[in-house]
Amino acid sequence: MKKTKKKKKTTQIVKAVRRLPLKDRLDEIDNEVKEKTFDNFYGSRLRILIGKWEKGEAISGEFRGVNSPPSYRQLKKQTGRDHTSLKTWHMLYKKYPNRNDYLPIAEEEAQSWTNKVFANAKVTPELEEPETPETPELPEGKFNVIYADPPWKYADTCEAGAIQGKGADKHYPVMSIQELCDLSISDVVCDNAVLFLWVTSPFLSACWPIIEAWGFEYKSSFVWNKVRHNMGHYNSVRHEFLLICIKGSFMPQDKKLNNSVQTIKRSLRHSEKPEEFRKMIETMYPKSKKLELFGRKKVTGWKVWGNEVDNELD
Ligand SMILES: C[S@@+](CC[C@H](N)C(=O)[O-])C[C@H]1O[C@@H](n2cnc3c(N)ncnc32)[C@H](O)[C@@H]1O
Repeated sequence: MKKTKKKKKTTQIVKAVRRLPLKDRLDEIDNEVKEKTFDNFYGSRLRILIGKWEKGEAISGEFRGVNSPPSYRQLKKQTGRDHTSLKTWHMLYKKYPNRNDYLPIAEEEAQSWTNKVFANAKVTPELEEPETPETPELPEGKFNVIYADPPWKYADTCEAGAIQGKGADKHYPVMSIQELCDLSISDVVCDNAVLFLWVTSPFLSACWPIIEAWGFEYKSSFVWNKVRHNMGHYNSVRHEFLLICIKGSFMPQDKKLNNSVQTIKRSLRHSEKPEEFRKMIETMYPKSKKLELFGRKKVTGWKVWGNEVDNELD
């Protein structure tokens, strides 16, 4: 008797689920699959990577404080692990002796690996699509220093010729060259002004129409040596350009000339530019009205425009 009741209940649930429109039911299953498996994939991959670091740390212990350090051949005999793995784990630890320095690298790699696996399985790990870009109104008034870091739209999902990591479009909405040209930047620029424009190597030739559309002429550039590399299609990329473009005439107000190559280790936040460059611009043009385009945080002394910064609070 009891058994029959239980069976009836299950059938009812199945029927209730079946009553859902097919699309909703499929979406529901997809979401469950994504929610459960994505976390597991990511977590497992992260654990494997951290495990490699831990094995490197353990191997390092064998080398510490001994007069004649063991060879990998000896370690291979001792542990039954192959020579290449032992060396790779050891090198990994030597590169990141501090666990906290390695963690963000491991997280990024685990994320990128998981995304690749899910892309091949035709399942997108992100449950929510990034919102469609919204272009806020440009600020009122005219500015004579413009500092811009556009959200370049890469043809593939990799950037700066990089084959590692995720594309910019996974982090924020991106814009085509035409969309960037179409922004009415020239309306907010004084007759005599300077534009500092961040550009990655793949966009070096493509950015010229933008400079022109905004009313500027290219004059010179800084090179940011980011120290940390990204693997590229043609080389190992560790630099970005900051182009100096002029409208009318607008020479720096400070006599000191800055080194054209600036070596500053890049942070692990996607696209983040070092504050040192902003400080350099402020020193070059202390008496100016400054506008940052595509900025992400409010800064004293600057009008910051972008879809991630809350201008209401200015
Ligand atoms: C390359 S990032 C800027 C990074 C910034 N310079 C930093 O150091 O953190 C580009 C920014 O432009 C924003 N963006 C994308 N599309 C936009 C649009 N249509 N209008 C305004 N901002 C946009 C992105 O959301 C992102 O915050």
